[in-house]
Amino acid sequence: MRALSTLAAACLLAGPAMADTFEEVKVTAGKTLFEGECRRCHAVEPTDPSYGPPLENVLYRAAGSVEGYDYSIALEASGIVWTPAALRAWMEDNDGFMPGTKMRHVGIEDRTVQDFILAYLTSISTKDNKALDQ
Ligand code: HEC
Repeated sequence: MRALSTLAAACLLAGPAMADTFEEVKVTAGKTLFEGECRRCHAVEPTDPSYGPPLENVLYRAAGSVEGYDYSIALEASGIVWTPAALRAWMEDNDGFMPGTKMRHVGIEDRTVQDFILAYLTSISTKDNKALDQ
């Protein structure tokens, strides 16, 4: 108990620094999860070979918009933007969310795991993409 309240006080004092640390932990965990769940099909760098579309800058990107990638008609015609909510729905049940996609089902239902992967995807996206979120 005492240790806990000391920790709580330390967090309060540390404030933003502690929040940064938490964000870093999420990104690191997200990278590990991404390596395990997504990397075998998705490169991060657009120049690396990738079975699925590269996911660099995916946050707030229009779906199906990587030049030269052969998307399914379903994804290309979806007209959606990859907001955090859309990415969660996709991770949870991609072929339910978008019938006709050629991405094999990944059923990541655990919100914490989704959070971590989202933190990682955000870390590999530039802020400029935010402008697309209307
Ligand atoms: C078995 C291979 C495979 C795995 C594993 C996989 N994907 Fe995919 N992913 C694909 C393919 C193929 C597409 C293209 C789908 C289409 O055109 O319908 C895709 C498309 C996507 C897109 C749409 C991108 C765009 O440019 O519109 C996102 C986002 C995505 N995947 C995220 C993930 C995440 C996050 C994971 C891990 C949790 C993951 N994928 C795991 C194969 C995979």
